[in-house]
Amino acid sequence: MKIAVMGYGTIGSGVVDVLKINHDKIAKAAGEEVSVKYILDLRDFPGDPMEKCVIHDYQTIVNDPEVGVVVETMGGVEPAYTFVKAMLEAGKQVATSNKNLVAAKGAELIRIAREHGVNFQFEASVGGGIPIIRPLNKCLTADEIEEITGILNGTTNYMLTKMTDEGADFDAVLKDAQNKGYAEKDPTADIEGHDPCRKIAILTSMVCGKQVDFEEIHCEGITKITPEDIAYAKAMNRTIKLLASSKKVGNSYSCMVAPYLLPAEHPLCGVNGVFNGIFVHGNVLGDAMFYGSGAGKLPTASAVVADVVDMVKHTNRHIVIDWSEEKMQIVDYKDSRN
Ligand code: HSE
Repeated sequence: MKIAVMGYGTIGSGVVDVLKINHDKIAKAAGEEVSVKYILDLRDFPGDPMEKCVIHDYQTIVNDPEVGVVVETMGGVEPAYTFVKAMLEAGKQVATSNKNLVAAKGAELIRIAREHGVNFQFEASVGGGIPIIRPLNKCLTADEIEEITGILNGTTNYMLTKMTDEGADFDAVLKDAQNKGYAEKDPTADIEGHDPCRKIAILTSMVCGKQVDFEEIHCEGITKITPEDIAYAKAMNRTIKLLASSKKVGNSYSCMVAPYLLPAEHPLCGVNGVFNGIFVHGNVLGDAMFYGSGAGKLPTASAVVADVVDMVKHTNRHIVIDWSEEKMQIVDYKDSRN
């Protein structure tokens, strides 16, 4: 199978690396060789081993019948949406790590994929390398999911951990997280909570099967957290964590993103550094925790390539994600407090 990678930044180059590092394992899992034919990017990459694959026009991919699977790791809604839509309409499967795209256009792209008999998958869009989309879509379908509460942003969890453990300075730890490839291009999305807000909207859409508008979710980031707040939390034997939560309230959901003071015994309290943790409560399952590498080049690329393998293996089978364009009205968090 020949694939194309759209966006050769941190995650896109991670996808190329994962395909190299685990070449034989991936070929065995997919049932055939998986190789990159094109890399779509605005830039040229002189001296890069993939230099010859670099193209600048997405129509080259659309018009090449040899390419069956396309990876989208560009980030942002446009032009990612235009490109992904064109790929699906051309009968190509698409795997993306782009939560902005999935949160804004997920339901529509799933419908377009279904209409063209192909798959649109996005395991890497939430939780980096942690499996969470597939478990919600496949393993927990017997449950009514009543709560999802997660540390869904590696950058801010890394920052809060360093601020708590080392008394580190906000700007210095942000720079460190950016250097390590955890943060978004514009880190405002991390520190203001917009990134985990989109991720909890995606997870809620997965469990309710309808479009959740992330703009309706109350969202606070960590920019107002001061060293005094950290010291107060410590004195109370608590830890400040940025949580994204979604709770079932009747036939709707109450969602919010905000910093919380967690007691030591809370299951998410021990989730430190760039790790993400996602607590899920189902009415028959009870509790489950998903925990692991929530951001970064190779962990996120691992989830993207797993989607690619899935799609290569099941080229002719539609992987049903039941997420319609109908809107789920969410409950204002203030109305759901008891
Ligand atoms: N900036 C994101 C984070 C990347 O820090 O979690 C992974 O989505």
